[in-house]
Amino acid sequence: MKVKNICCIGAGYVGGPTMSVIAQKCPEVKVTVVDINEERIAQWNSDDLDDLPIYEPGLAEVVGEARNKNLFFSTDVDGAIKEADMIFISVNTPTKTYGIGKGMAADLKYIELCARQIARVADTDKIVVEKSTLPVRTAAALKSILHHTGNGVNFHILSNPEFLAEGTAVQDLLDGDRVLIGGDQKTEESKAAMQALVDIYAHWMKPEQILTTNVWSSELSKLTANAFLAQRVSSINAMSELCEVTDADVSEVARAVGSDSRIGPKFLKASVGFGGSCFQKDILNLVYIAKSYGLHEVADYWEQVIIMNDHQKRRFARNIVQTLFNTVSGKKIAFLGWAFKKDTNDTRESAAIYVANDLLEEKAEISVFDPKVKPHQMHSDLEYLNGGDQYNETLNAETDPYEACKDAHAIAILTEWDEFVDYDWKKIHANMKKPAFLFDGRNILNRDKMEKLGFIYRGIGK
Ligand code: UDX
Ligand code: ADP
Repeated sequence: MKVKNICCIGAGYVGGPTMSVIAQKCPEVKVTVVDINEERIAQWNSDDLDDLPIYEPGLAEVVGEARNKNLFFSTDVDGAIKEADMIFISVNTPTKTYGIGKGMAADLKYIELCARQIARVADTDKIVVEKSTLPVRTAAALKSILHHTGNGVNFHILSNPEFLAEGTAVQDLLDGDRVLIGGDQKTEESKAAMQALVDIYAHWMKPEQILTTNVWSSELSKLTANAFLAQRVSSINAMSELCEVTDADVSEVARAVGSDSRIGPKFLKASVGFGGSCFQKDILNLVYIAKSYGLHEVADYWEQVIIMNDHQKRRFARNIVQTLFNTVSGKKIAFLGWAFKKDTNDTRESAAIYVANDLLEEKAEISVFDPKVKPHQMHSDLEYLNGGDQYNETLNAETDPYEACKDAHAIAILTEWDEFVDYDWKKIHANMKKPAFLFDGRNILNRDKMEKLGFIYRGIGK
């Protein structure tokens, strides 16, 4: 079968870029991205492409090319479901904050709501593609809801996990290593449903890059890939602490280790800790699934990756306090960066939030500059971390980095934005309280150069 109409439920970090690229590459397919969040949809439809709700390099160009030709953003969820022959579900699946599996399992209420909505509205056969990161066997739950509608509509459920990384999402979509499509391969009909999705990606990807598996392998592969990547970061971060108490330099260790072709050089950058919407959530999910099958050793093994990451964030904050003569009370500390990595405005699980929270508890005054994160986001991140409570601490969001650093006792680099390297560090140093401390949580600055300027420099694992 040939897909003519695609609907994507959820216009977020996953749905927005993925659908924009599909629309650009498949001009004969009409792609409608729907969301219940009216403001978000209005931003996607904004005439000013700088106002898109998501910042991703290259995204504005793709949206500009396809929008209102074969790419549409709308709040009419029912209308788009009705019209579509293929529906992607890419709504958010945060970690549960209540009840059974609290703090570990994925909250599937948004997915379930979607499934019920599709079941209620659909009056023709649909291919339903789960795109959100989901625990293994979610497809089975979707199937159960969709197959019991009793209105004679057939649903084929596919799993198509995303592997795009924020900041490089468009590039990953256009030139990714692979796409993974999980589906039931037992009947001719289900094979045809899978082929329909393969055909979409085949518009721009090579056949050998489109992997097909059964649904559960596909779901579990996504969690496994993220667990492996996060594990590399936790492994190098564990070594960074050992380097700091010896004479080793973690960047040298990483280079030496990464030149073994079996290990490879990527994802070996020691940092203040990994963040993002996927790593922690997916590992917690994996841990929860393992526990629910009674596989406690498996669960503990993967949980250690999270424990190490939490330790790394806390250690960074503690190091600042200890270095600043054991007190930061009333001292201004400037944060450069709030996003969980460069080239994104996403702050979910960003290390900056945790470090800020620890320092605010020590009564520090924090001023933050991030090139892409809006001030209200920083405040709501801290509120969210504190269980939604209004927090009254002093966190000032600045729109100018030099202002953020003025009169500060210390600067902490939390995100590796390229522009930070090019700042006038001499000027920054001149306007700080002395001694001026620089905590480089991303190892982006040159230690010798900074020390020559007069900074007391502390990198990670150096
Ligand atoms: C990740 C996966 O890479 C992607 O395939 C998946 O689909 C979604 O989750 P993302 O969370 O966008 O993508 O970012 P990623 O580039 O993986 O970085 C995650 C975190 O690890 C960031 O906070 C990053 O700064 C940190 N990191 C990464 C390190 O600290 N060191 C490294 O060497 C690499
Ligand atoms: P992700 O990183 O997984 O894309 P986001 O939070 O960026 O997550 O995006 C998910 C989007 O899904 C949000 O914009 C949210 O409003 C939307 N959403 C959640 N539930 C529904 C629903 N039932 N119908 C339509 N949109 C939904």
